[in-house]
Amino acid sequence: MPVLVAAGSATWESSAVERLGRRGGGVAVHKRCVDLTDLVASASTGLARAALVDAGLPGLDADTVSVLARSGVGVVAVDTADGGAAVRDRLHRLGVRGIVGPDLGGVDDALRDAAASAGAGAGPPGGGGAPIEEVFEPSGVAAGRGAAARLVVVWGPAGAPGRTTLAVGLAAEIAHRDRSVLLLDADPYGGAVAQHLGVLDGASGLLAAARAANAGELDATRLAALARCVGSDGSPLRVLTGLPRPDRWLEVRPATYDDVLDAAATLADWVLVDVGFSLEGDQDDPFATGPQRNLMTTAALARADEVVVVGAADPVGLSRLARGLVDLHDLRPDAAVRVVVNRTRASLGWSESEIHGMVEGFVRPRDVHFVPDDRAGADRALMAGRSLVEAGDSTLRRAVAAVADGVLGERPEGGGRRLRRRTAGRAR
Ligand SMILES: Nc1ncnc2c1ncn2[C@@H]1O[C@H](COP(=O)(O)OP(=O)(O)O)[C@@H](O)[C@H]1O
Ligand SMILES: [Mg+2]
Repeated sequence: MPVLVAAGSATWESSAVERLGRRGGGVAVHKRCVDLTDLVASASTGLARAALVDAGLPGLDADTVSVLARSGVGVVAVDTADGGAAVRDRLHRLGVRGIVGPDLGGVDDALRDAAASAGAGAGPPGGGGAPIEEVFEPSGVAAGRGAAARLVVVWGPAGAPGRTTLAVGLAAEIAHRDRSVLLLDADPYGGAVAQHLGVLDGASGLLAAARAANAGELDATRLAALARCVGSDGSPLRVLTGLPRPDRWLEVRPATYDDVLDAAATLADWVLVDVGFSLEGDQDDPFATGPQRNLMTTAALARADEVVVVGAADPVGLSRLARGLVDLHDLRPDAAVRVVVNRTRASLGWSESEIHGMVEGFVRPRDVHFVPDDRAGADRALMAGRSLVEAGDSTLRRAVAAVADGVLGERPEGGGRRLRRRTAGRAR
């Protein structure tokens, strides 16, 4: 089994080379790399199965470890300084598969295990595209969702149907009912949650969290410090603000985004995610290695416990909604879907049951909700930079509260029409 070695300035390299060469057992040094760039380039040839790196190698971060994993290379770190539990935790969060001490005890087995687990998650370049769930397998060994956390993704097709209005309104409504909530703005085309809630300082919680994750330093405590608390009615809402400019989506690397979702699930009982409209991606292209903008959307959808699909009630909005439900089903056939038909108004002329029937032609939803066009109610909240809950009573707020009832499972769903609830499992 060919192994890459990158020791940086540490002194264990020669003993590792000697030991791995001597022991046999199939583990052999394929190349000694001078630095991280050399390591990544060597891994991209697809010839190596594992890498032995120094824990202090400059530039070693979660993104690099995930790039190595996608080349089929599992990483084992040598903790030269014997840094104890804190260093081990950080390395695990980076996605390092094994850690050995300066005496290199057990290094052969650690490398074999790392190779096996990397091989299971991603193949060598060109070896077939891993499905999205696999690409997004948590890179941190200790990563895991909070046992009770529910991930609700608010999605909808192009054309500004009201995704952010619903995401912010639902998060505020759920917080108002004394649940712990984190609202994550993960729209790769630019964040808008901050403007909706009057958070004007311009610092992006999402980018800060992604940076912390890349350094292996993101946990619930750190995420709590990066989130903003908004709301003044005694039930604060935690908000992780989004991209300050659309072009900064590149800074949210796939491995770090998954860590942000993991940390969110340990911080709050309810995680609401406002995502972009597009589901397009080259995740099915085995030769695609570049960054993919819509992974922020598709990765959240891949692990959502429920997807709130928002569509506009006008003819263009409804046809986009229909198409969107098909696309969502292609991406996540088992998704539990709740549909919100937004900005309904008498001048459009369709009955609720006609729209209900149209939706059921494409998906079996948990429920279909109708939210009225309430320009005054929406504007009052937007202009004040406050949530619908704080902005006072409006028909919009009451309608969003009814959607929150459904999300929380607090009232019988479906009004007169009881719809069978889908037994939806998560994608992974
Ligand atoms: N039910 C509604 N009634 C009136 N205006 C609405 C309603 N829902 C959304 N809007 C308005 O539509 C615009 C787009 O909404 P937004 O939530 O930002 O869309 P998206 O996130 O889908 O792009 C905003 O000006 C918002 O205030
Ligand atoms: Mg939006």
